[in-house]
Amino acid sequence: MDGVELHYPEGTLPLPVREATVGASGLEISRLLRDAGYVTLDPGYANTASCSSSITFIDGDAGVLRHRGYLIGDLASHASFLDVAHLLIHEALPTASQGEEFARSIATRQSLDKRFDTFFASFPRDAHPMAILAASVNALSAFSGEGGASVDVDEITLSLLAKIPTFAARSMRHSLDQPFIEPDPERGYVENFLRMCFGTADGKYQPDPDVVKVLDMLFVLHADHEQNCSTSTVRLVGSSQADLFASVAAGVNALSGPLHGGANEAVINMLEHIARERLSVQDFIRGIKENHSGVRLMGFGHRVYKNYDPRAMLVKEAAREMLTHAGKSDPLLSLAIELEEAAVADEYFTDRKLYPNVDFYTGLIYRAMGFPSRMFTPLFTVGRTAGWIAQWREMAADSETRIGRPRQIYVGAGERAYDGAS
Ligand code: SDX
Repeated sequence: MDGVELHYPEGTLPLPVREATVGASGLEISRLLRDAGYVTLDPGYANTASCSSSITFIDGDAGVLRHRGYLIGDLASHASFLDVAHLLIHEALPTASQGEEFARSIATRQSLDKRFDTFFASFPRDAHPMAILAASVNALSAFSGEGGASVDVDEITLSLLAKIPTFAARSMRHSLDQPFIEPDPERGYVENFLRMCFGTADGKYQPDPDVVKVLDMLFVLHADHEQNCSTSTVRLVGSSQADLFASVAAGVNALSGPLHGGANEAVINMLEHIARERLSVQDFIRGIKENHSGVRLMGFGHRVYKNYDPRAMLVKEAAREMLTHAGKSDPLLSLAIELEEAAVADEYFTDRKLYPNVDFYTGLIYRAMGFPSRMFTPLFTVGRTAGWIAQWREMAADSETRIGRPRQIYVGAGERAYDGAS
């Protein structure tokens, strides 16, 4: 289709169509203000594409998620997180030798400048790890000469993929007042991360291979997700030609919000509240429905998925397997399953197409692995860094990229003489 015609009181405006290879095509409105004198208003950008992208595609109605054409279920079953990071960033799954080179390039960059020791020591013990993580990523820029501008993007890419797990592990150890464990370049990405998180001074801790496998899969599930809040933040900051460090630091901050990546921690807090207060699931659901402008069923609902988030189903299965493997039972898992069953049978939720999203079950797995709940969003960050980098690089290479600068509908006072009145 070539285009559509917009009819407005003062005239008509042809709007070219940007064809999608799959999913919704776009109406190009770049001449709307200049030729018709109007802007569009779309709170939360629910109907607005900020860019063209070939990295990830989501069919929200069908509950489909693909990265460069590969279904998330196939990637979760057959690809490692570093394979998926390579796919997102370098547009193809790596060959065996490319994968080894990529992993090696990352493994040899995981240690930190010694001055980061005092940097971490300066934070209060009860600082939230996401605050430390955001500050650490921003600080990387300061340690890379000329605010990162002098460092090429490929180097920054490897540095971020390498150091974010080290930062996350250190923020956990700092909050627990435990000594830092140095990364071991001879170990795999996830194995190294678990060692830095749970390692013991006597070196006896060895990550459980089954836990390594599940956590690697969870990083795959969190790697990228189209133009979500934090990814859009990374793109917007990068559109001013701020470096990749600064852009990813902004993404960490956006992800920390409880409506976004912070939801996985909020879900566990919600489940603990229900259990502590001995609320029945029906009472809790009723409370949400009666007071639905405030309390929300955390881990439920999604701007794009109007069906089950395919990641949530993979996580739910992994949670069951993880607890069985650990020989543990977690009453909060049973409570979460009961809550899900009650909600998906309730028309308040089905009418609004509210289903479990990726955050509903992930916290239960992380708990079973031994992570404190404040580490759940940093774990989301480790996975999502790959997607942020890929999206930022795509933005930087896109000839259509302009500095992001939305317009507004002004509804304030008209011009008035200065009368000094307060
Ligand atoms: C992530 O965008 C991504 O891709 C994000 C993400 C990724 O991988 O990057 O998938 C990760 O952020 C997942 C979402 C995690 N957040 C939560 O679980 C927090 C709880 N969910 C929400 O607050 C909400 O569903 C959002 C933020 C996820 C989506 O918000 P929208 O699309 O702006 O929807 P809305 O707030 O306009 O809600 C529409 C209606 C409202 O009711 P009415 O005014 O029509 O009566 O649904 C209700 C809302 O009150 N509603 C909920 C609800 N979510 C929406 N009611 C109860 N519980 C909820 N969870």
